[in-house]
Amino acid sequence: MAQSPLTVIPPDIVCAADYERYAQRYIEASAWAYLQGGAADEMTLATNCDAWASLKLWPRMLADVAHGHTRCNLFGDELAHPIILAPVATQRLFHPEGELASVLAAGVMGGAAVVSTQASVTLEEVTKQAHGPLWFQLYWQGGRDATLALVKRAEAAGYRALVLTVDAPVSGVRNREQRAGFSVPSSAAQVNVKMLTLPVLQQGMSTVFDGLMPLAPQWHDVEWLAKQTHLPIILKGVLHPKDARLAIEAGAAGIVVSNHGGRVLDSALPTLDALAGVVLAVDGAIPVLVDGGIRRGTDIVKAIALGASAVMIGRPYVHALATAGALGVAHLIRLLREELEVAMALTGCKTLECISSEYLHTAANFNGA
Ligand code: FNR
Repeated sequence: MAQSPLTVIPPDIVCAADYERYAQRYIEASAWAYLQGGAADEMTLATNCDAWASLKLWPRMLADVAHGHTRCNLFGDELAHPIILAPVATQRLFHPEGELASVLAAGVMGGAAVVSTQASVTLEEVTKQAHGPLWFQLYWQGGRDATLALVKRAEAAGYRALVLTVDAPVSGVRNREQRAGFSVPSSAAQVNVKMLTLPVLQQGMSTVFDGLMPLAPQWHDVEWLAKQTHLPIILKGVLHPKDARLAIEAGAAGIVVSNHGGRVLDSALPTLDALAGVVLAVDGAIPVLVDGGIRRGTDIVKAIALGASAVMIGRPYVHALATAGALGVAHLIRLLREELEVAMALTGCKTLECISSEYLHTAANFNGA
């Protein structure tokens, strides 16, 4: 039985890993399996985190970093730091206030948050708690009309960008949550959209190819979507440089290098490994963000050194949400931002723009040093 969330932050919570340790007490066992799990054998889930941990920073001394800062500008909004809350579905599963608490914390801490199509609070209600920019994460609704209706609701509600998730037209096989018998309770059900109705399949037809994939978007749909809205469209789930170029051609204003936190295609490469190739392909045309396994301020420095403009975090803020609601999420963001500042000061980087691959201890740098 899960315990009630805390109202005061315990002094022994000093980093994201501490929130993960605490969170399990406040989340039902099957919901924990849903949150923590990845696709199939969870190989991508594991490598996402390992990849950031194994890359080494190469600090520089005695640099003038006085009056440095972590500010950045994304899609027209000035943010105090580059730590964005990734879209996570059905957050009332983890805390009674769900999305209302996480967006409140993001805004108060001077950052942006992405609200999932599958939120457990209506997309309009969430904006009432916003103290900072909110982006709406869009799942294609099986066809253009239903998708456009959702986009128009997001525009009317004041969202600042659309994050079109393109990596999950079919949900990943999730063994851990299936074993735990997870299903979303009605108290945390998605409220923005109805479940898609799948076409009736004849005997011998495939649920994937004949049922789900005909409802999935393609590049020409992204091109169409970009013409229907004044909001910037950020494609989330791009891992291949060729897809990055197609995204720009289709009119995307940003890319999130993501493998959905290892939840969709197991064996997909860790996002760290995909980042540099995408950044090279984009060549500065649009901002590139990254998520998947970001757990520390040093991970953020590494991501920016590889060319990211900002990072998104998923599970870590849900751990903080479950432990202590909005207070927990705000505290986690503060911890990560302080870690980022410390890492910047110790590598000699005064601003995010100063951070480059020069501060990574890679073979390429070693030869040139
Ligand atoms: C997600 N993610 C996700 N992504 C998305 O585009 N729409 C969604 O509704 C969800 N829902 C969701 C639920 C849960 C429980 C998790 C853990 C993740 C993926 C999310 O946005 C992000 O890409 C990953 O969580 C990033 O990896 P980390 O930070 O969790 O390692």
